Amino acid sequence: MSREPLALAVLGEGVVDASQPWLHADDAGVLRGRAAFETMRVYAGRPFRLERHLARLVGSAAVLGLPAPDPAALAPLAGQAVEAAAVADCVLRVVWTGGREQDERGVGFALVTALPEGLEQQRGRGLSLASLQLAIGAHARQSSPWLLPGVKSTSYAVNMAAQNEAHRRGADDALFLSAEGIVLEGPTSNVWLREGELLVTPPLDLGILAGVTRDSLLAAAVETGPAVQEQKFGLERLAAADEIFTSSSVREVMPVVVLDGRTVGDGRPGRAAAAMQEALRRAAQTA
Ligand SMILES: Cc1ncc(COP(=O)(O)O)c(C=O)c1O
Repeated sequence: MSREPLALAVLGEGVVDASQPWLHADDAGVLRGRAAFETMRVYAGRPFRLERHLARLVGSAAVLGLPAPDPAALAPLAGQAVEAAAVADCVLRVVWTGGREQDERGVGFALVTALPEGLEQQRGRGLSLASLQLAIGAHARQSSPWLLPGVKSTSYAVNMAAQNEAHRRGADDALFLSAEGIVLEGPTSNVWLREGELLVTPPLDLGILAGVTRDSLLAAAVETGPAVQEQKFGLERLAAADEIFTSSSVREVMPVVVLDGRTVGDGRPGRAAAAMQEALRRAAQTA
């Protein structure tokens, strides 16, 4: 499938030609990485939990000190882009940059791209993760807003470099640990473990991103079981779990079968990951 965007809509312009440049070279997002973004899945032509994503975008923009984005303007813009893409299942990004240096207005756009290839094969096979130190204490991260804990900014070079390092170690993805060895999150996902009938995911006060998928899974687990708790845990507890999986908007629920080169559980994608994936799809259908 072509990696060209399927559609682009720019605030104040509407749907535009995605093959043309639409940002200025002095945009704060380009020059300083000062931009917030959201990525979500579109199911059957409908972005999943768009309002929730736009609310998180507003929060990210506030921490970054950007002009406030207006969800009432961005939601229809996202709708236009999805409609122009005319593909039922795809990826929608809503991006809000600081705009040009000389003016105070932000720049917003909605970009629609194809789903990455091979997701279902990966789900069937399971992921391998490599744990990497973030070299910062969980408490320092949480009490230092300038480190952007829980903010989805386009300054994701550290996250992408961590993924590169994980690949270099022969793993599919990275898993961040705090300086104290507390399990945090992946570069683009939240993490979960299963011990018997209990699901556990790290709490938001660690400064991790409040994943929209994480939130959907917590709600699904509370509604239908299994028991779920938000708890801090270290690598040893994670490695000894019966099952590990990650959650994120595009890749949804991904089983993890290898952690730092060691087999997780019985080495196969687990039943909780399958049940949570099913619950997520059900929620997407009824949203
Ligand atoms: C650092 C980080 N954690 C968690 C997530 C998962 O969030 P969501 O479920 O909202 O996609 C993401 C998504 O990209 C992320 O970048």
